[in-house]
Amino acid sequence: MINVILFGPPGAGKGTQSQNLMQHYGLVHLSTGDLLRAEVAASTPLGLEAKKLMDQGLLVPDHVVIGMIEGRMKSNPDARGFIFDGFPRTVAQAEALDLMLMKNKLSITAMVSLVVPEAETATRLMKRALEEGRSDDTEEAIKKRIREYQEKTLPVAEYYRSKGRFVAINGVGAVTEIFKRITEAVDKARH
Ligand code: AP5
Ligand code: MG
Repeated sequence: MINVILFGPPGAGKGTQSQNLMQHYGLVHLSTGDLLRAEVAASTPLGLEAKKLMDQGLLVPDHVVIGMIEGRMKSNPDARGFIFDGFPRTVAQAEALDLMLMKNKLSITAMVSLVVPEAETATRLMKRALEEGRSDDTEEAIKKRIREYQEKTLPVAEYYRSKGRFVAINGVGAVTEIFKRITEAVDKARH
């Protein structure tokens, strides 16, 4: 089993690289952002509540995303492993994930952190705003998302560093180059 956490600030390329990794290793992609946006699109009660927070660039409550991840892991019992994209985003989420994995005798292979300077992620997100119009790609929401990342999510990196599972890679360059750096890091962590 390979269980990889893709970590990084908004616009770091987590979603982009997840697509490549999913195919390369045959893993199931679990993106809490995508799962939440699907709830919003379906106008479920959970989606309507989450949308208010997401549009402001604020994190949704831990129990909501933990429940989503637990459900998806249970519904994929034969998975060869998972790519966690945008989860865990708080230390409480990381602890909940550890517990879920432990129950199934699994563990995290590596947390791969995509290091991208803020000027670059800002350019990427403003470009995506024009192309895709994601409702949280506004200047104000992006600022909040960065603040949430710095205050609540960065400590998650320390959590995995202390377990010897943290790897930082340069997230700037061509998508294919970055993908190569990620697979090298994952392959090294597997052995
Ligand atoms: P989420 O959907 O996870 O958004 P995010 O973390 O802000 O990250 P993005 O999806 O914007 O960026 P990304 O790193 O995936 O980059 P991408 O590949 O798209 O979360 C959204 C919201 O949901 C949160 O704010 C929160 O409200 C809620 N939420 C989600 N998970 C939660 C959790 N666990 N707990 C609580 N709340 C949660 O790339 C960005 C752009 O750059 C794209 O246009 C792409 O084409 C381009 N690009 C990618 N790579 C490159 C490259 N190498 N060079 C140039 N351009 C590139
Ligand atoms: Mg994403």
